Amino acid sequence: MCNPPQSNQPGYNRLILTAPVGRSGTGAPNPEKDLFAQLGPDTVMMMGDNPVLPKMPDKPTLLDFFKYRFVNEEITRTHLLTSAKRAMEDGQPDKVVIACLLHDFANGGLIRSDHGYWGAQMMRPYVDEEIAWAIEKHQALRYFADEQAGYDYPESYNRFFGPDYVPPEYIRQEAEAARNHRWYMTGRLVTKYDIYFFDQNEVIDPEIFTDIIGRNFKQPEEGLGFDGSPSAHMWRTFIWPNNFL
Ligand SMILES: [Fe+2]
Ligand SMILES: [Fe+2]
Repeated sequence: MCNPPQSNQPGYNRLILTAPVGRSGTGAPNPEKDLFAQLGPDTVMMMGDNPVLPKMPDKPTLLDFFKYRFVNEEITRTHLLTSAKRAMEDGQPDKVVIACLLHDFANGGLIRSDHGYWGAQMMRPYVDEEIAWAIEKHQALRYFADEQAGYDYPESYNRFFGPDYVPPEYIRQEAEAARNHRWYMTGRLVTKYDIYFFDQNEVIDPEIFTDIIGRNFKQPEEGLGFDGSPSAHMWRTFIWPNNFL
């Protein structure tokens, strides 16, 4: 009995359907029908390793995602490494440094919208709950200045959204609740180091965070994505972002 063709075997032309969530409402056509029309003995939908992307190790670690993913997402990658490095240099505790390192992780590989929540959900099985909380809440806290904590409304947000932008009600409520929470300063410190460093050309080696990750991130033996955690599928999506299903 012969096996059905596998698209992770070499020699196939592999078609990629972009994720609907990034296409919806943009006016970009849904190419699904066109792609189906191209299917044939040598042409299949993308499943498994996309040869254009660096090959991930079989048992990926957190650092592997910094090294082999964030393809085309250099701004996010640099932003995370720089935020965490500045927090570390300022002598912030581990929990703040690691939260800075991970706070926009979802942006770089998964999704932009509500990125704090996606990122927190992704990290929650592997970090202390306070760290996941800070990752989640930084999204809402970013919209609200706290002069006492030395945090101003970001000038970049005026450029991103226009100076008259008002965040939605759920964000206002989340920020309000976070402000009264015992972990507030951990979330607030993430926003303090959440600065875009577009003008800095420093190349930061993710390995400088090896020890801090070792102390604060429960790396699963089976590798991220293959450990059966509640967010393992999110790591697998990061590994195989172009899978058709
Ligand atoms: Fe963010
Ligand atoms: Fe950020």
